[in-house]
Amino acid sequence: MSEPLLTYDLSLLDQSLAKWRSSPALRAVYADIYHEMGLALAPGSILEIGSGIGVARDYFPGLVTSDVVATPFVDRAVSAYEIPAQGWGNIIAMDVLHHLPEPLRFFESAARALAPGGRIILAEPAGTAWGRIFYRWFHHEPCRPEEIRPPYQFVAAADGEFANMGMGQALFGRGVPDLVAASLEKSGLKIVGVRYRDLLAYPATGGFSHSALLPAAGLRALLALERLLPQALLRFLALRMIVVLEKRNPA
Ligand SMILES: C[S@@+](CC[C@H](N)C(=O)[O-])C[C@H]1O[C@@H](n2cnc3c(N)ncnc32)[C@H](O)[C@@H]1O
Repeated sequence: MSEPLLTYDLSLLDQSLAKWRSSPALRAVYADIYHEMGLALAPGSILEIGSGIGVARDYFPGLVTSDVVATPFVDRAVSAYEIPAQGWGNIIAMDVLHHLPEPLRFFESAARALAPGGRIILAEPAGTAWGRIFYRWFHHEPCRPEEIRPPYQFVAAADGEFANMGMGQALFGRGVPDLVAASLEKSGLKIVGVRYRDLLAYPATGGFSHSALLPAAGLRALLALERLLPQALLRFLALRMIVVLEKRNPA
């Protein structure tokens, strides 16, 4: 097994856990995102890649959590590029794809690890027209879909970190680029759905760095209203996207 490449500052995790515990607003919006991811689950086991503080286990019974290295928060160390082939029913990941310098290698690895009919369910920032502006102003990581180009192999910074929040939008949001489609096809993966979500409630949580602007009950009401918005509008305005892929059954 190759040495894991740390593209994310894991020292942020203690801070994130403290914020998670102290912010009902943050938990309310994440619960809604996990709920939507859960609607896409195939039958069978669930492995999470890049679990961070591991809180998804509160929303997915039996979830196996993991991160690129062993941490106190997760069940095991798993690299996105070397997922153990244990016939998983589902592989889920929240905010991980945009930290992977070799996203297509992740899909190959996930396809090998899934059972036929198994699913990959990703929640990612959406580099929509508004998403790009929002993340430029309010988030420290770049959101540049235009830089996500063939051969889809990117170089991490000198400190080893890599992030481009435009990854999901560039790979799945504006049609699927030919090389990506060919790579997914070769791995036996088909795209089941791409859905956009999150407009105001998500930023109003204050994220992991700021205070919430609304209480959890207010955010739940806002989320209910946002659910009424058409995808045709959210394609331009959403801050997040949920991408679902499925491993084909052998012919
Ligand atoms: C932005 S954090 C998201 C953490 C968590 N999923 C959440 O939503 O709070 C990105 C996570 O991806 C993990 N990660 C980055 N590169 C990875 C890789 N090659 N294999 C597995 N996990 C990776 C990081 O260690 C980190 O836990």
